Amino acid sequence: MYAGYNVTDLVYNSTFEEVIYLLHHRELPNASQLEQVTAQLCGERVLHDFTKQLMVTLSSTTSPMSMLRTLVSAASAYDPDGWVVSTDHAANQRKAIRLISRLPQMISGPERLRGGKWPVEPSTDLGHAANLLYVLSGEYPSDEDAKIMDQCLIMHADHTMNASTFAARVTAGTLSDIHSAMTSAIATLKGPLHGGANEQVFEMILKIGSVDRVAEEIKGRLARKEKIMGFGHRVYKAEDPRATILRELARELGERKGDTKWFEISEAIYEVVNSEKGLFPNVDFYAAAVYHYLGIPRRLFTSIFAASRISGWTAHVIEQLHNNRLIRPDSEYIGPGPRDYIQLGDR
Ligand SMILES: CC(C)(COP(=O)(O)OP(=O)(O)OC[C@H]1O[C@@H](n2cnc3c(N)ncnc32)[C@H](O)[C@@H]1OP(=O)(O)O)[C@@H](O)C(=O)NCCC(=O)NCCS
Repeated sequence: MYAGYNVTDLVYNSTFEEVIYLLHHRELPNASQLEQVTAQLCGERVLHDFTKQLMVTLSSTTSPMSMLRTLVSAASAYDPDGWVVSTDHAANQRKAIRLISRLPQMISGPERLRGGKWPVEPSTDLGHAANLLYVLSGEYPSDEDAKIMDQCLIMHADHTMNASTFAARVTAGTLSDIHSAMTSAIATLKGPLHGGANEQVFEMILKIGSVDRVAEEIKGRLARKEKIMGFGHRVYKAEDPRATILRELARELGERKGDTKWFEISEAIYEVVNSEKGLFPNVDFYAAAVYHYLGIPRRLFTSIFAASRISGWTAHVIEQLHNNRLIRPDSEYIGPGPRDYIQLGDR
């Protein structure tokens, strides 16, 4: 649920722009509010020259997620609302929209540079999801692909107190600024036990390569006590409802693109993991095949997750700053009790 609305309803009825507004304001926008937020998102897309130069300098020597983390951090330097810590609600909201709007360019620019191509200037009128696909490939996506990208962005937008959202709130809770909180969040999403799982899912699917190799490969991994990426969840002990939607999107894309192999391998993996371990797929499992069918390079899968989740992270940070209290968990010390200092020569 996002602010009381079932995510499945939002996936099938709304757009990512509406969901951004919902997360930030706890209400769905009316037509003029939607027009306003859409115009803001379109109008903030162009990156500052400093950010573009940083991409050219660093893209070949950093991983995509490290590049994204560094670009978001560096973007605070030239943010029109300044870099100082701010509990100014309106300024934070402007900064949030600016960051959400610019993430597709921060993800696609370095990837194109890595491939020897210049970044594509963003469209000024495409929707957020369509622009994301456009700046990645330089080609206008079909309406069907743009719709599925939009649905993926909606599904990944927020998810209670996951690790990256928690990191963002801890940073904001010290009254640090929103760029710093987003930097923490991206750094936390990067790990393979969180957002990094989707890249590893597709690596596994590619390595398996055909349906007839699935059972042997997965059973071997389980026998070696290896984790199967894209399965299991700290909270869900049944199928993640988003995985159910993504499975159907992967099937639809595979059929439409005339290439169902990646969907079929995914299904075969699901059957073996579920029967062997009783585990269910999480949001990352079918997202891997969906992103691949949309033409997104595997090493960008986690960055695409960030392009969506930044809507939830910013909403959490604005909420945290609105009525802040320092987050400082208690901890239980386990180790030796009080003891006398031993001089270096006596150790
Ligand atoms: C998400 C995750 C970290 C949750 O972990 P958790 O709540 O700490 O659960 P645990 O790691 O303690 O797992 C409990 C049991 O299920 C098994 N298990 C959990 N996820 C598994 C997986 N993906 N593959 C194989 N076994 C798994 C564990 O080995 C453990 O078995 P055991 O009791 O026999 O030792 C874990 O399921 C995982 O690593 N999944 C793969 C990474 C992933 O897809 N992350 C994205 C999450 S949205």
